[in-house]
Amino acid sequence: MSFIVAIDGPAGAGKSTVARRVAEHLNMALVDTGAIYRCVGIQSLRQNISPEETERLGELAARLRIEFRRLNGVEGVFCEGEDVSTLIRTPDVAKAASAVASRPPVRRALLELQRRLGRDAPLGAVLEGRDIGTVVFPQANVKVFLTASAEERARRRHEELSGKGIVTTYDLVLADQIARDSEDENRAVAPLKPAADAVRVDTTGLPTDAVVDRIVALVHARKT
Ligand code: DC
Repeated sequence: MSFIVAIDGPAGAGKSTVARRVAEHLNMALVDTGAIYRCVGIQSLRQNISPEETERLGELAARLRIEFRRLNGVEGVFCEGEDVSTLIRTPDVAKAASAVASRPPVRRALLELQRRLGRDAPLGAVLEGRDIGTVVFPQANVKVFLTASAEERARRRHEELSGKGIVTTYDLVLADQIARDSEDENRAVAPLKPAADAVRVDTTGLPTDAVVDRIVALVHARKT
């Protein structure tokens, strides 16, 4: 069994940046599980499958070929061979991802893929998502639950979207975020909640370096 670091938390808590930096620092594989749900989200939009068509969504999730590939040092997300790394970051796809993620057949279909990506990493893997420490890898070696205030999370997400040329406002991002948090926290299957044995880290006002150092220290402590 490879060494597994689970990083869970709500949107905008800083998971992506922190998980990437931790994985680089420790030379471990990085698995962005939100990107996997986003791939199902974008394909559901393209194929006009509504969130109510639960079984069709499950079949879609089971059959999609989703891969992470590293090209020139940059991690890319590929769906059916197409590079969707940028396309899956739009607010529309985020909404679709959140909707499909609340459907049990979708979550079931994606479980094995996430476990395989973690298990197959020879030097260990950092998985970031919502239910890694609770459902995907309940036996993870290190579990971290990252949080930050809703305002701070919206500010970061707005900055990130603007940086990618996606036009939106802070107020819209905040409203969207609150709606998505509520959907993620209140869904019947695998709701967003910290594992009982997760270390909680509030990143509000904390420099990324400090958060990364803290998690790396937790990993070293577990390895010795
Ligand atoms: O982290 P993100 O914003 O890219 O995630 C996209 C959506 O997928 C979000 O609504 C939460 C959902 N998700 C999930 O339910 N479980 C995961 N392990 C990862 C993401």
